[in-house]
Amino acid sequence: MLSREENDLLTQVGPGKPMGELMRRYWIPALLSSEVPHPDCAPVRVRLLGEDLVALRDTQGRVGLLDEHCSHRGTSLFYGRNEECGLRCIYHGWKYDIEGRVLKTPAEPANSTLKDKVRHTAYPCKEAAGVVWAYLGPKDKVPLLPNYEWMDLPAERLYVTKSIQDCNWLQGLEGECDSSHLSVLHKNFTGERPRGGGDGALYAADSAPQLEGIEMDYGMRLLSCRRIDPDTIYLRVSNIVLPCHGFIPTGGLRGNSEGYTIHSHVPIDDTHSMRYNIHFRRTRPIHEDERQHDEEIGADFRKLRNLGNNYLQDRERQKRENFTGMGQIFLVHDSCATESMGPIYDRSQEHLGVSDLTVIAVRKFLLKTAREVASGKEPPHVIRTAEQNDLRHVACIATKIAAASDPKAYVTEQLKKPRYWETESY
Ligand code: FES
Ligand SMILES: [Fe+2]
Repeated sequence: MLSREENDLLTQVGPGKPMGELMRRYWIPALLSSEVPHPDCAPVRVRLLGEDLVALRDTQGRVGLLDEHCSHRGTSLFYGRNEECGLRCIYHGWKYDIEGRVLKTPAEPANSTLKDKVRHTAYPCKEAAGVVWAYLGPKDKVPLLPNYEWMDLPAERLYVTKSIQDCNWLQGLEGECDSSHLSVLHKNFTGERPRGGGDGALYAADSAPQLEGIEMDYGMRLLSCRRIDPDTIYLRVSNIVLPCHGFIPTGGLRGNSEGYTIHSHVPIDDTHSMRYNIHFRRTRPIHEDERQHDEEIGADFRKLRNLGNNYLQDRERQKRENFTGMGQIFLVHDSCATESMGPIYDRSQEHLGVSDLTVIAVRKFLLKTAREVASGKEPPHVIRTAEQNDLRHVACIATKIAAASDPKAYVTEQLKKPRYWETESY
């Protein structure tokens, strides 16, 4: 349970709010690269951390993110003309480059210096893993882009989707923290392999896993141990990575080199978030059937099954097929669980148990981090050197280990190896 004050602190992400300021110290997903597919293409509206912005790819192919409203008299630049390395407002023709410089003010006299006095809000962008990452923080504190192992993979080894979530970002992130819900929410009765990864039989073998959260330099490492028989533990290792990512083991036990899945819960504003799902494979292209993990997302990034249509729940199928009666896509189950709590869940009303141990650990970590940063401390996992950018320990594991072994020691040992997933025990 959280106090109202703690709940507000974790859920409010606008400028000046402690969590909003923490988020602004990192590169965060702003849109998919494919939304701005070629130079001078149509600009795209982006709402991020409560700010209304417009993304464009300029004539040179660079992506920029500008305040949506023209610095002259506020017309939306979404309707503007993206041409000759800048975005031109359709009202009086003010033209901006991706750094927010005003290049043209055609309605002003030729000798006007007005354009030199105005600087439009613009945020730097970088592209990696099919995603445009933006930095909305202080200009003198821009970090390096984190070098996760999947950031520079070729397109055929990546499959990236995004979907609007009608709830606060933390509800989504908390869904990444509790391994316990795998045994319930995602249970299916047909033996069909779930489309979200993992192994349903192993989840079902123990519905009350032992959970542990360990604070790391990048966030929290989360362990869950299911006793699947007297001698064997099914171990899952996930990570909550600052500021808003869940790294979830969806490979393992299916063969080597599968990778894991990244679920990023990026705040649109306090009551909506964008969930990015980044799937990758380490050594081979993604198969066509693997590209259907997140089907049922419309062209407008709204889920076809959503809160407005009760996720097209089928009560007959709920009896025969799976626990939810909402199809086999994990994304839909998770969204129903978290969106139906309401736009911002009031955590002073909940009743937590042992199965929430890792949720509690992550909340504590986020509260502590947001407060420390608000009081002037440098945030953790802000990458400034090549050494800090060695992030191979930010990885996931799903494997069986002997019940007699120490899971924590096993994980530490495995993740020291540069290609741990090739070891026999994995
Ligand atoms: S409002 Fe944009 S140029 Fe006038
Ligand atoms: Fe889930």
